[in-house]
Amino acid sequence: METMVIRGGRRLQGTVTASGSKNASLAIMAACLLADGTSRVTNVPDVQDIRTMCTMLEILGARARMQDNVFTLDPKGFASRPAPYELVKTMRASIYVLAPLLSRFGKAQVALPGGCAIGQRPIDQHLKGLEALGAQVSLEHGYIHTAAPHGLKGADIYLDVASVGATVNIMLAAVLAAGKTVIDHAACEPEIVDLAEGLNRMGADIKGAGSSRIEIKGQRQLGPMEHRVITDRIEAGTLAVAGAITAGDITIRSFPGRHLTALEKKLGEAGVEVVPAAGDAVQIKRLQERLAPVDIVTLPYPGFPTDLQAQWMALMCLAAGRSVVTETIWENRFLHVAELKRMGADIQIEGSNALVRGGALLSGAQVMASDLRASAALILAGLVAEGETTVSRIYHLDRGYEQLEEKLASLGADIQRIRE
Ligand code: EPZ
Repeated sequence: METMVIRGGRRLQGTVTASGSKNASLAIMAACLLADGTSRVTNVPDVQDIRTMCTMLEILGARARMQDNVFTLDPKGFASRPAPYELVKTMRASIYVLAPLLSRFGKAQVALPGGCAIGQRPIDQHLKGLEALGAQVSLEHGYIHTAAPHGLKGADIYLDVASVGATVNIMLAAVLAAGKTVIDHAACEPEIVDLAEGLNRMGADIKGAGSSRIEIKGQRQLGPMEHRVITDRIEAGTLAVAGAITAGDITIRSFPGRHLTALEKKLGEAGVEVVPAAGDAVQIKRLQERLAPVDIVTLPYPGFPTDLQAQWMALMCLAAGRSVVTETIWENRFLHVAELKRMGADIQIEGSNALVRGGALLSGAQVMASDLRASAALILAGLVAEGETTVSRIYHLDRGYEQLEEKLASLGADIQRIRE
């Protein structure tokens, strides 16, 4: 077991570079299964979820490699094999192999992902989309069995919720389906746009990604992909909050400002400026001694991202007054609250609202990470807490942050990973 030990009280200073997007990479890695030939994708973060996806692709017979943030996939041996529960349960994005299996072999068997700490996480919209494209779907012994004996055919699909994952799976199926597919109420997240760009580089014909209506003309075959993944907006946002919470003076390179408008505006309301610097860098500057309390509501893009909710809450623990954090995407994404309270935070949960009374001095404590973003929030709180904070179950952090402790340490944080 590994823990992270942080001694709080250091103002962060210096320059740091944001990594490539984990969530865009996961979808793009699955997309590479659709190619006739070896794909090469750069700026892929070296994190556990990416390694898990590599293992999944290898189980399916493809040859997946990750070296120096470059992912290559040779799909030559890709075969119709079950995507096993042992792997799917460790990473839900494994479900992205469903569509490539179905469109290349006319059948797929993928373990049904269960719930996770942040919510039940249904996949009904993925299945609804694939059924509309002509797949027969059944559930047997915990596995989703899909078959499309007559091939997939384009269809008009309306998603009941603008699900990122369902949009990904339907796009991956539709690019090789016969005829035209329209996805209405599609997810608009930047990761969807990046996937569409990658697929279009393979020869797909996708229009409208980034809007709520995506149109796809199916192709007979796709060539390999050469693509550079976008910056991870959630990691960049987490680093920005690290600068803000410590009243530091940090510069973040490769900052995806246009994907983080909601965070930038909210930081501005709290008294933190995001100042454009050279190239694609920004400087994070706290304009006032005390942060102003600012309410947020998590929403699908371009709303405030749920994946930055926990980090924002840590920031609001320092604000001069009361703020409300409302979570509308995941029904159980407040597990960090009890841990922040162990550090002296004054937070009360009322349904999907967390009422944060900021201003109390946080004190270092032993806390436990419950999921990826909660672990980041606890580390952020530890940066400003008095004394020592120990965050356990740090494997959650390693699923999605590339060298976060090295990056924070390079900015002057007193943070250390302890391997027991
Ligand atoms: C993606 O999850 C991200 N994961 C999540 O990031 C992120 O929190 C989430 O989108 C929302 O932005 C990846 O990209 C790998 P959804 P996903 O399907 O695709 C409901 C992180 O920390 N829903 O957009 O699973 C669902 O219950 C992770 O990096 C259905 O009802 O999210 C939720 O309320 C955590 N039926 C909402 O839609 C479905 O079939 C959004 O879920 C699918 C989803």
